[in-house]
Amino acid sequence: MRTVYLNGQYVPETEAKVSVFDRGFLFADAVYEVVSVIDGKLIDFDGHVARLHRSMAELRMPQPPGREELLTMCRELAARNALTEGMIYFEVTRGNPGDRDFLFPSAELQPTIVGFTQNAPLVDRPQAESGVSVVTLPDRRWQMAHVKTTQLLYASLMKAEAKACGADDAWLVRDGFVTEGSSQNAHIVTKQGKLITHPLDSSILHGITQSAVLELARQGVVEVETRSFTVEEAKDAAEAMVTAASAFVLPVTRIDGVQLGDGTCGPITRKLRETYIEFARNSAI
Ligand code: PDD
Repeated sequence: MRTVYLNGQYVPETEAKVSVFDRGFLFADAVYEVVSVIDGKLIDFDGHVARLHRSMAELRMPQPPGREELLTMCRELAARNALTEGMIYFEVTRGNPGDRDFLFPSAELQPTIVGFTQNAPLVDRPQAESGVSVVTLPDRRWQMAHVKTTQLLYASLMKAEAKACGADDAWLVRDGFVTEGSSQNAHIVTKQGKLITHPLDSSILHGITQSAVLELARQGVVEVETRSFTVEEAKDAAEAMVTAASAFVLPVTRIDGVQLGDGTCGPITRKLRETYIEFARNSAI
């Protein structure tokens, strides 16, 4: 049984209880982060903390947990659950006002903080070679996708829709342009050899993994162009890939049934995945 974190305590998962009046439960009034772990160490921890603080500020949620508190929590959770490879999920809700009311109280609530571990293979994955297939579906999420809230119902529905279509995942499309994957950032490599990535606006989550991968890409792997790309361009691309803490870099080898290249991981995606894993191992804390 896992040990989970709840408001300063480490408890068996069956004993972690949150009020039915918690605004995270009633209104998805909560933000979260997923930090990947390899060799028992945290990858890009400071980037995730910074984004949690930005998300909380956007939602006017006071009392963000500090870096040291979160670092201790993540390290304790990894140690107590013998996590060597996988993810640590943590969430901060606005708290429990004691009743259901759309308006949240102006007086500060005590935020609810939870954290737990998930074992998962991140480095050795067959999909790193075979790639994943995606279908494009309309992006009907709210217009503050840059805030990492637990409002994930639309993304969940689109993943289910993708599975029903026989694909692994969904790429979301707004006005003909791909915004991002259901839980990953989306990028393509054109036949001219340029990596195209969506601008950092409010229609996508500003991925911590993508930020590191793009930085590495610019250090001599591939030229990067920041602009949105259409579904047609994606289907015509030499390569496509997704980035996320839970994926690192994974090739996308099929879009709406159209095979890209020879249907396996392309050279730029492979190089970026290798370079990112090396960076992650060397910089994990
Ligand atoms: N998802 N876009 C969306 C919509 C996401 O949910 C995620 C992450 C990303 C990638 O962000 P990062 O590189 O910081 O993980 C992009 C996490 C892994 C999840 O919800 O499980």
